[in-house]
Amino acid sequence: MTDKKSAHLIVLGNEKGGTGKSTLAMHIIVGLMDVGRKVAVIDLDARQKSITRYLQNRQTFMANGGAKVAMPEFSVVSQSEIGLIKDREKEDQKNLQKTLDLYKNTVDYIVIDCPGNDTYLSRLAHALADTLVTPLNDSFIDLDLLGEVSPTNFQVKKLSCYSEMVWDSRKFRSASGQPPMDWIVVRTRLASLDSRNNKRVHDALDALQKRVMFRYVPGLYERVIYKELFPSGLTILDLEQMNSLSHVAARQEVRSLVESLNLFE
Ligand SMILES: Nc1ncnc2c1ncn2[C@@H]1O[C@H](COP(=O)(O)OP(=O)(O)O)[C@@H](O)[C@H]1O
Ligand SMILES: [Mg+2]
Repeated sequence: MTDKKSAHLIVLGNEKGGTGKSTLAMHIIVGLMDVGRKVAVIDLDARQKSITRYLQNRQTFMANGGAKVAMPEFSVVSQSEIGLIKDREKEDQKNLQKTLDLYKNTVDYIVIDCPGNDTYLSRLAHALADTLVTPLNDSFIDLDLLGEVSPTNFQVKKLSCYSEMVWDSRKFRSASGQPPMDWIVVRTRLASLDSRNNKRVHDALDALQKRVMFRYVPGLYERVIYKELFPSGLTILDLEQMNSLSHVAARQEVRSLVESLNLFE
């Protein structure tokens, strides 16, 4: 659906709520704007609208006299509710394409934040993603979202529906002659203590990444600063002053994460 010169599409997806997609999306968006890139945002989670709310808070912060911060353009695309599935899917496709067309020649990156469940719009976004970012919390429950891995010998027993869906998206891309999607799994909300569980999740992800072909990169620790700035619409990258070592570490963590996405030539 998109042509070669158009904006690079980054999709935040998995099939679970609360793993940190919208939080990660916001930090990637600000991370890209922070190095002078133009970004547009499409919210496919019309029920929660977390990323939209985050960005509206950012607008309000400035309108109320706060410092001027970079702003992306943003839109919500809601699921169609018309009668037949066939017609709904057609309308979803039309609405997403219309929104992509609005931005694709005017920005460098389009960031799409998906809901935590399987929707047709989310599948369309996955099929179009140049880069797919999947946040995963530090537990075997979340790991099941990618595939079933034996906790004793780390053998991959079977892939999850989500991994199968990403696989289909990849086939769709290659059939339509597009370069391969870069799938990145990011661990988020990591506990600060290096626990045994942490190491086991690491080993299991390592086994999975060979089988499922994603890149697994260090992500964000569990830090208050990643949630407390939501009402102001800001992120750690927007703050002029760092108040603690934890803030310095958080800023570095976000920058490293954005770099590890390999978005810059
Ligand atoms: N790295 C983090 N540290 C602390 N809290 C986080 C972190 N990432 C996400 N959260 C919090 O976890 C909750 C779910 O995050 P959210 O980004 O809304 O997930 P999703 O979009 O996948 O549903 C929110 O309350 C958010 O503030
Ligand atoms: Mg969300």
